[in-house]
This record gives sequence, structure tokens and C-alpha cells, in this order.
Amino acid sequence: MTMKIRFSRHRKTEIKPPRHIAIVLDGNGRWASRRGLPRSAGHAVGAETFRTIATYCRDIGVEYLTCYAFSTENWSRPAEEVSAIWELLRKYLIESLEKMERDRVKIRIMGDRADMPDDIKGLLAQIDEKSAHIDGITLCICLNYGGRQEILHAVRTLAQECERSERKADSISLDDISQNLYSRGIPDPDLIIRPSGELRLSNFLLWQCAYSEFYFTDVLWPDFKPSDIDQAIAEYSRRDRRFGGVKAKGR
Ligand code: IPE
Ligand code: IPE
Ligand code: MG
Repeated sequence: MTMKIRFSRHRKTEIKPPRHIAIVLDGNGRWASRRGLPRSAGHAVGAETFRTIATYCRDIGVEYLTCYAFSTENWSRPAEEVSAIWELLRKYLIESLEKMERDRVKIRIMGDRADMPDDIKGLLAQIDEKSAHIDGITLCICLNYGGRQEILHAVRTLAQECERSERKADSISLDDISQNLYSRGIPDPDLIIRPSGELRLSNFLLWQCAYSEFYFTDVLWPDFKPSDIDQAIAEYSRRDRRFGGVKAKGR
């Protein structure tokens, strides 16, 4: 699928969107503070933005959309904010369970489920089961996610396999690590977007981002629009991805 992006008043170009876009959903708190609202109000608007952007990405033919919604470090925030975020996540997961088949959205939750509330664990199990039968855009939602923790988990799994069997440590390949991450079977992100003006990854997809392209914008997540996705894709389409090789001929 291709999409039309207006680069200037006179030129429209057909662009194929990246197969996999990943987004750090950042800036909700500042959006609310600037309006004299509690931070939770920013999270509520951010959740609406997420619905809009996920639908837009599906409609333009993105195959995988990964969103960073709650990090392993976000537990350190005030209890009131943490519970407001989980309340919104609960609401989103319940709605998704009802609509995902109709909307043809497959959901993959990435993160450590052990510390999550029991009812959320139950919702996630139902989402896993439904997702197995759906083919459409894959929405990966990072919840209680940390890139370092994800790699640590994969390394421990492989080390335990070596302990229990004849397997030798030097037989462990890059692919073995990829296959033991939460993102097992999902291609690495082509484009990682971070709104809100911060220029860092904050423990997001540390293994998977090896050759991703980055797009940073000052727009705060609750203000993020489909046109911001268009801008990110237009910029991405002008990049020359070499993967350590040499520049493609004719470019
Ligand atoms: C992102 O927005 C949402 C979560 C981390 C859950 P923030 O809450 O980090 O918003 P800012 O960065 O403080 O503006
Ligand atoms: C990253 O944003 C995590 C999520 C958006 C879920 P943070 O707001 O937690 O990151 P820092 O603290 O600015 O690095
Ligand atoms: Mg933030």
C-alpha cells in the first residue's frame, strides 16, 4: 500500500509507509501542566490520541505499530498517577477486547506481567487468545516494559537451557536472543518516533533498535496528529538506510 504525502504545495509523492513504526508515548504530563490540569488529564487525552494514531497507521498500511505506554521505571511516580494510568490501561484493554476482531487488530503485550494487577493479567490472557485468530495490523503495547530487563530475561532463559541440557554457551546466536525477547517473531522497527522534545530512548527496544531510523519532534503526545505521522514517514523516506553496507547506486 502507498500513501500520498504532500511535500510542498506543488508536489505529491507516493510513499510506502515503513513496515514497523514504534512510538514513545511521551509528553502527557507536560501537556496537562501547561493547561493547569492534573497530569492524569494528560494521560486521558494521550489515550485518545493513541486510538486515533493506531487507526491511522492501520489505514495507511503499517503492518506493526509498537507503543511504549508504561516503563519498568514508571512505577517510581506518585501512587496516584500510577493508578490513574493503570485505570486508563484497564479501560483501553476492555474496549480492545470487544473491538479487536471487528477492527482486525492483533494485540501483543510486551513486558513483565508478574507485577501487574490480577484482573489486568486476566484481560491480557484473553487478548492473547483472541489475537491468535486475527490477522491485521499488529499492535504491540509495551506495558511494564524495560529494554534491559527484556534482554536480561532472554539471557537467563538461554543460560537455564544450557544448565539443563548439553547445550554449549557458544552455540547461542543473535537469532536465539531475538527469539527469546517479548518481540519474538516481529521484525525490528524501521522507524522510532519520540514526541515531546526528549532525545533519548528511556529503555525502549534496546536490542531491536540497532538499525532503526529515529524521528524526534517537540509535539507533545496528546497533540500528536496523523499529519505528524505523515511528516515522520516523509522524513524517513528520504533516509538512506545502509545497514553497514555502501550507498545504493544512483542515490
Ligand atoms: C508519557 O507521558 C506517559 C507515561 C510515561 C506513562 P509522561 O507522563 O512521561 O509526560 P511528561 O514527559 O512528564 O510530560
Ligand atoms: C518513557 O517516557 C516511557 C514511556 C513513555 C512509557 P518517560 O517519561 O518515562 O521517560 P524519561 O523519564 O523522560 O526518560
Ligand atoms: Mg515523560
